Amino acid sequence: MRQPAAEAPEAGTRGVLSLRGISKTFGAVAALADIDLDVSAGEVLALVGDNGAGKSTLVKVLSGVHAPTAGTITFQDEQVTISSPAVAQRLGIATVYQDLALCENLNVIENLFLGQEIRPTRLNSVAMEVRSWELLRQLSAKLPTLRIPIASLSGGQRQTVAIARSLLGDPKVVVLDEPTAALGVAQTAEVLNLVERLRDNGHAVIMISHSMPDVRAVADTVAVLRLGRNNGVFPVRDVSNEDIIAAITGATDNVVTRRAERSGGAAPGTKSDTVPGGDTPPGEDDPS
Ligand SMILES: Nc1ncnc2c1ncn2[C@@H]1O[C@H](COP(=O)(O)OP(=O)(O)OP(=O)(O)O)[C@@H](O)[C@H]1O
Ligand SMILES: [Mg+2]
Repeated sequence: MRQPAAEAPEAGTRGVLSLRGISKTFGAVAALADIDLDVSAGEVLALVGDNGAGKSTLVKVLSGVHAPTAGTITFQDEQVTISSPAVAQRLGIATVYQDLALCENLNVIENLFLGQEIRPTRLNSVAMEVRSWELLRQLSAKLPTLRIPIASLSGGQRQTVAIARSLLGDPKVVVLDEPTAALGVAQTAEVLNLVERLRDNGHAVIMISHSMPDVRAVADTVAVLRLGRNNGVFPVRDVSNEDIIAAITGATDNVVTRRAERSGGAAPGTKSDTVPGGDTPPGEDDPS
């Protein structure tokens, strides 16, 4: 039997973060206009949209990098002003940026505690190592040793370290900006496992992604941004890739179907795996 449309996804029962009417302009550019967004404890919300749709701007509003021009943010039932990254961190909103911001020459423990060492450092290197293993255990993450430099870790392992670091302040909300963008198949699976661990541990997770398989694999809800506006929020289990892509492009006659028509055949299944705006694999690019 079909679920009533208004029923919330089962995972998202405890609202943690709500945005209402969030706008952000840069001079004449309206990067975000009247955005509403809700995420709950134990929910993975995928945020998708074409290049320039406003995803990163929204992340920066949540992480205290940009002040919204209008709108309200409610965090754990209180209206808040996220005026700086330090305020976001104190509230419990952690962001893992796409570039991860890890120091190549420092080891895992040093990276986890960079800037927030347990002092006095020398006395507490043991405490930091213990805490590091704890954080990684929370994520069921496997690293052979914590005393190797980041430079010798794989992409998936680096993402693991960056996510573990975001958990240091015991956040309620974890925002991941394209956590699998640069990863191969096995490493992507590893990182998607981490996202599931975050949900299982009761975090609210907002994940920006251009990958439809990743969205389907871990997200409960998918929110579409288009030209800085909300263009649909769907429970993942009830929506097709085609409907998501139609919301992203603003038309059912989207890039995928147009390309398929030009080549005279049905759209191959894989064409809807990457949402518009994602990195196009070499050789896949439209020559026209
Ligand atoms: N600091 C800024 N100054 C001026 N314009 C900006 C600034 N940051 C973003 N914009 C504009 O806001 C719009 C949304 O950009 P944003 O980076 O949020 O998009 P996005 O959805 O993250 O895109 P992508 O998928 O390419 O990363 C774009 O038109 C962009 O040019
Ligand atoms: Mg972006």
